[in-house]
Amino acid sequence: MSNKSSVSEGKTSNKKLLAWVSEMADLCKPDQVVWCDGSQEEYDRLCELMVKAGTFIRLNPDKRPNCFLARSHPSDVARVEERTFICAATKEEVGPTNNWAPPAEMRETLKGVFAGCMRGRTMYVIPFSMGPLGSPIAKIGVEISDSPYVVVNMRIMTRMGSKVLDVLGDGPFIPCMHSVGAPLAAGQKDVTWPCEGDIGKKYIVHFPDTTEIWSYGSGYGGNALLGKKCLALRIASVMARDEGWLAEHMLISGLQGPDGEKTYIGAAFPSACGKTNLAMLRPPAGFENWKVTTVGDDIAWIKKAPDGLLRAINPEAGFFGVAPGTNMSSNANAMLTMTKNSIFTNVALTDDGDVWWEGMDGPPPAHAIDWQGKDWTPDCGRPAAHANSRFTAPASQCPSIDADWENPNGVPISAFIFGGRMSKDMPLVYQAFNWAHGVYLAATMGSEATAAAIGQVAMRRDPMAMLPFCGYNMADYFTHWLNVGRKVSNPPRIFRVNWFRKGEDGKFLWPGFGDNMRVLKWIVDRVHGRGFAVESPIGWMPRYEDIEWKGLDFPAKSFHDLMSVGREAGTAEAHSHEELFDRFLDRLPKEFTFERELLRSRLWRSPDRWELAREV
Ligand code: GTP
Ligand code: SPV
Ligand code: MN
Repeated sequence: MSNKSSVSEGKTSNKKLLAWVSEMADLCKPDQVVWCDGSQEEYDRLCELMVKAGTFIRLNPDKRPNCFLARSHPSDVARVEERTFICAATKEEVGPTNNWAPPAEMRETLKGVFAGCMRGRTMYVIPFSMGPLGSPIAKIGVEISDSPYVVVNMRIMTRMGSKVLDVLGDGPFIPCMHSVGAPLAAGQKDVTWPCEGDIGKKYIVHFPDTTEIWSYGSGYGGNALLGKKCLALRIASVMARDEGWLAEHMLISGLQGPDGEKTYIGAAFPSACGKTNLAMLRPPAGFENWKVTTVGDDIAWIKKAPDGLLRAINPEAGFFGVAPGTNMSSNANAMLTMTKNSIFTNVALTDDGDVWWEGMDGPPPAHAIDWQGKDWTPDCGRPAAHANSRFTAPASQCPSIDADWENPNGVPISAFIFGGRMSKDMPLVYQAFNWAHGVYLAATMGSEATAAAIGQVAMRRDPMAMLPFCGYNMADYFTHWLNVGRKVSNPPRIFRVNWFRKGEDGKFLWPGFGDNMRVLKWIVDRVHGRGFAVESPIGWMPRYEDIEWKGLDFPAKSFHDLMSVGREAGTAEAHSHEELFDRFLDRLPKEFTFERELLRSRLWRSPDRWELAREV
């Protein structure tokens, strides 16, 4: 089949789309062009094709019906931040925290890189909607990809296929160009995970001014499923700035108390720091009359509604969650979501055809095949699953999915929670004094390295957990946040949390997971004006007796260790905020300079070690 004859297949009459697909086919030189219809039949056929090619292993249908395992190339296991570019007109527009290249220059580079890159492969055209199909807040994208793995993952993660073209009509779409960057010469045998093995030759590029995405060389996660981080965060954050809303790296969940009152929260944690777990939390013993429901686990689009409230939607349709550490006690809802119709990437394969990863329930298997396809035994000294191995599963299969998860009007947000991974000094929970202080707390969030991206330093500032995902200058993003709070009558309350503080023995001080509900309950109480708090130098804090401890034996002394604020450590922390701020020069909102000075003076007046015990 020639490129030209199959470019439209009569699927759409959208001239821009047809012209773009034809132009990209001419550039990339695939063997054929296939328009994805999003059907089950197409999904099954592509999965079977990948089983034949060795890319997919079908899991035991008795244990995991309609589930597959993929193993990536060892060089292609996570997002590549140093190869991620935002090509706005000027460097100032993208700010000091993003990689920039002059758009015209980058276009030339990409033209060279993409030329002939799909030789010997099929070019798939994947129409998708971020947000419920046809909803006024949804955005339509079209991804072109030479990876069938991307097609089947996009079918789970987004609303995908012909129905999107019907809604699109002649309207605008966001073009998302993707290639694994591994053309095949005539007769060359394919590998199971084609990609560009040299990191320096991968490109994840965004053109915010023309809302275009170009991704080359990787088939993994956010590098390749372009609706997710590229469109729904980097490009959407720029649209949100221009249109007055927020595109955030946040879970959305509903917390329903014994009296039926439901409170929705949006919570931002950096990659691999607990969003999926919190979004699907199962209330612990002592909280039998509480219910937590899931709207989303990774991305929130938040807009001011006509009723004056901030309402959030989850633009995604599936979860691309971290596998290691997920088990029936840490996240039962996630485990139950992925019992069928799911794709597993870089986890281990058990001898009975099921999956396994570090931290799954029960003892490790006596033998397995690890994520690199090698024999594995518990004593072999290597992890069986990659630390950033993931599951792709439909959100509709989640037992805790919220009744309103596809409501095009979204759910009203009453609190924003920000939490990094901090092994020292950062308390379990505290509340901002007001909106501007809360924005400051969010912007100065620090977090320790995880496996979700390649090449992270030990600890970094990750403002709003958006460092890798904000598509414009972060100083302007801070100003945008300050403005959003000014425009709503009763802005959500803002909280900082930290589940990851460790004791002298290197062990977590806080049980975390389901027990995080205890912290959430205090947050709900505060939101509704009934929770008690004392003023500390860094914000409002619960006392021991303000937390519900029913069902957990947690001594007051441990709580005080978790909540204490050292004057010296706090002052050093405040001081190091300057390092972040200095990078933005005079673009930084003035409020931040004053907030920092206020923080320093409050700490200066505080005891060496500020403890709640003193106040009790
Ligand atoms: P992305 O999908 O990368 O954006 O990450 P995420 O924020 O959704 O991460 P996820 O919820 O999958 O968390 C991954 C890691 O955090 C796992 O190793 C979990 O075990 C760990 N984790 C989550 N919640 C807690 C908690 O309350 N306490 C502790 N100690 N670890 C947690
Ligand atoms: C993250 O890294 O924050 C993720 C996974 O959610 S990925 O989609 O690969 O970006
Ligand atoms: Mn994420």
